[in-house]
Amino acid sequence: SRIKEVEFVKSSGRAKDCPKDDRPEFAILGRSNVGKSSLINALVRKKEVALTSKKPGKTQLINHFLVNKSWYIVDLPGYGFAKAPDASRMDWSSFTKGYFLNRDTLVAVLLLIDASVPPQKIDLDCANWLGRNNIPLTFVFTKCDKMKASKGKRPDENIKLFQQLIRQNYREHPPWIMTSSVTGLGRDELLLHMSQLRNY
Ligand code: GTP
Ligand code: MG
Repeated sequence: SRIKEVEFVKSSGRAKDCPKDDRPEFAILGRSNVGKSSLINALVRKKEVALTSKKPGKTQLINHFLVNKSWYIVDLPGYGFAKAPDASRMDWSSFTKGYFLNRDTLVAVLLLIDASVPPQKIDLDCANWLGRNNIPLTFVFTKCDKMKASKGKRPDENIKLFQQLIRQNYREHPPWIMTSSVTGLGRDELLLHMSQLRNY
């Protein structure tokens, strides 16, 4: 499951502009600032493959990265960023939904959840939307290194609460992995998980 080579292929503004290809792919999804781009960089151990930023909303397109010439990682725009009065609103543009519903080569969505904050309604809404549409997902909890968070609960406690809420809507809890792009926690586990899903 080693990553030897990563190649940026294309940024697409519409689902139908994505690469026409039958190689399998994984989409990285989550709230703005959850650490999507950082996770991609940590996975491939190369800085700035995907652009990161302290300012939310940096990734605005569907970005395809080809790994080992055999599968794709797709960096998507974060949700929860639109300056809407109701901050928990699902604010995906139709192109993101179109991507999920029409991308035949999508193996699974890696739904990133910030473990340093309590469960967020918008993340639960997103997980439930994917579930209703039968799109396979794996929860990837990010920022698990923030064990000494000054406010609120510890990541392991936040994760437990989140999972209790997910169990109310899923007959079977989807797979989940704890990660940190700072310490590298979960990196190998996630790579192995993805290689197992690809080989089904
Ligand atoms: P958008 O593209 O705007 O949706 O954001 P993103 O989800 O790609 O987040 P990004 O990777 O740009 O990271 C946002 C901020 O969180 C940056 O300041 C990162 O340094 C920080 N961050 C990301 N992952 C971790 C992590 O595992 N631990 C800690 N402590 N900080 C992290
Ligand atoms: Mg990003």
